[in-house]
Amino acid sequence: MSASSSISPSASHLGADPKIVRRLSSVSHIILVLSGKGGVGKSSVSAQLALSLSSSPSPADSDRNARVGILDIDLTGPSIPRMLGLDGSSVKQSTDGWVPVYTDASQHLAVMSVGFLLRSKNDSVVWRGPKKNAMIKQFLGDVRWGELDYLIIDTPPGTSDEHISILEYLRTFNPTAVMVTTPQAVSLADNLRSLDFCRKTNLPVLGLIENMSGYICPHCKDCTNVWGKGGGEALAKREGLRFLGRIPIDPGLVRVLDDAKEDAQHELEKQLDGTRLSTTEPVTIDQPLPQEGQAAESKETEDKKSATPAGTILSRTTIQRYKSSLTFPIFQEITDQIRTLAHQHRLHPQPSGVLSSSES
Ligand SMILES: Nc1ncnc2c1ncn2[C@@H]1O[C@H](COP(=O)(O)OP(=O)(O)O)[C@@H](O)[C@H]1O
Ligand SMILES: [Mg+2]
Repeated sequence: MSASSSISPSASHLGADPKIVRRLSSVSHIILVLSGKGGVGKSSVSAQLALSLSSSPSPADSDRNARVGILDIDLTGPSIPRMLGLDGSSVKQSTDGWVPVYTDASQHLAVMSVGFLLRSKNDSVVWRGPKKNAMIKQFLGDVRWGELDYLIIDTPPGTSDEHISILEYLRTFNPTAVMVTTPQAVSLADNLRSLDFCRKTNLPVLGLIENMSGYICPHCKDCTNVWGKGGGEALAKREGLRFLGRIPIDPGLVRVLDDAKEDAQHELEKQLDGTRLSTTEPVTIDQPLPQEGQAAESKETEDKKSATPAGTILSRTTIQRYKSSLTFPIFQEITDQIRTLAHQHRLHPQPSGVLSSSES
């Protein structure tokens, strides 16, 4: 069974934007990553979930790995390109919309972020509400994701314009959410507000992850509870959420995610005998899409181009280095639960805002 064969019939998308329906009908599962505050690890959890899912079997065809997309809608602080080593990559336009950036030639992980549309990673954009809304609509309606098993959406902290817009557009696609918290109380209080938002908007929460939960000394393997421990699990219990697990502070993970580009660049330069990577001109944010039928390269050529040289190297660096990190096996257990829960939700969509922790 292919991802597209399990799509909802178009009748179920009544009232949805036809461009978005066309793009997202071939996406099986849409999962938003949320947290009440910034800096708790939403982007790193989104990146890990995407990496981990793309190296697990597809739920549609166990003979191949899952095809995953990651959409970064943190418009003022996009960090997904950096975490996946794709800083400096750019989005291409085809006759059929924006081509996402692929992390490697196998095209199992497609990435879209406003970070790819800025000329420099240090550029900032001042976004007003309607402009944010238009950008998000464009990300959903203009990106040629193709068939995806999972689309992971990394969101800004709290409950902002971006959350409201994306939920409005995705309403008919049965999205779900995963919440991330750190053990500290302030973060937990912020999470209550996020949870309230999920309930009010009927966004089912698959579960809660406690990130930065203790520090495991790489030498003696002793765990120190730097910011306490167990707050996330207690919150989950109290709110009837499933607790998906805790991720310790892992200095190795910081190196994998924060130094991904440098590592990829270094590897590539070694192979190319010192030649610097060239990056292509990014598209400007308001650039209109070409008309149908306008001269275009074949899909195959475009796709080969969009798999960046750095990305090809990444298939041996970020993903492999992530797999050898302390966090990978811990996160894999979280991923397995998310896969199962997302599948169950697809078969039996939950009408309520929060999935009961007793559902398995
Ligand atoms: N479990 C962890 N161990 C070590 N560092 C982490 C962990 N989770 C996140 N980080 C680091 O903390 C910083 C903030 O995380 P990030 O994912 O950007 O948070 P958010 O998206 O919620 O703002 C990043 O530099 C990230 O690499
Ligand atoms: Mg972030």
